[in-house]
Amino acid sequence: MPNKVKVQSDVYKLARAAAEYFVTLSQEMIIEKGFFSVVLSGGSTPENLYALIATDTYLPRVDWSKTYVFWGDERPVPPEDLDSNYRLASDTLLSNTQIPAENVFRIAGETPPEEAANTYEERLETFFAEKGLAEPQFDLVLLGLGSDGHTASLFPESDVLEMTDRWVAAHYVESQRSWRITMTAPLLNSGRNVMFYVSGTDKAEIVRDVLEGEPDRYPAQLIDPPNGRIIWLVDQDAAMLLTKR
Ligand code: 6PG
Repeated sequence: MPNKVKVQSDVYKLARAAAEYFVTLSQEMIIEKGFFSVVLSGGSTPENLYALIATDTYLPRVDWSKTYVFWGDERPVPPEDLDSNYRLASDTLLSNTQIPAENVFRIAGETPPEEAANTYEERLETFFAEKGLAEPQFDLVLLGLGSDGHTASLFPESDVLEMTDRWVAAHYVESQRSWRITMTAPLLNSGRNVMFYVSGTDKAEIVRDVLEGEPDRYPAQLIDPPNGRIIWLVDQDAAMLLTKR
């Protein structure tokens, strides 16, 4: 599926475009099948997006009682830790909603990483089964992009990149000097809509290399949903080296 790249002139317009997409898709999915499932990304870029969705312009337009929230990856830390991807989304967005606790699927970063991965995978199996889905499927998968081409916690030279028999895995990431728990590429590729959300001049080179460079070089290039589409929402700074717009 070809990548669709939408360039916004600044980070505020970028957040607005992504928030509008999030809300509109949630409404469409709830009308179509009664619920909306979204995988959130971590890192720092999405903070302004989550905070914007939490404003009166967007918050009331999402039916949080029919929204299910997941994370693409997590650090090996408790939920109250500043490094926690869960805490980022909870503090900026979820704590402002009435989303039922049972709709929030947090990766238990406080438990041993491999146990956290196995437990999360079991919870996903139960969720998909309860929703009558023979195959995993998320309505929206939000992804960031690291300067080394990683996404979620699929880092270069990791064994997890070749995993096809797992949905969630734990691995030690040398470059981060830390364990990470991550959804694998096959699970991320179950997204019906995958949105890379990238901003800043520091990402311009990797955005160009991932989108216009050699294929099969970066983990982010593993993302190619067979039954979905990829949208790249980037600001002018992150898109500055792209030759094709
Ligand atoms: C994480 C994220 C990771 C992130 C990229 C970009 O846990 O860190 O899931 O994949 O999206 O590293 O991070 P920034 O948005 O901070 O540049």
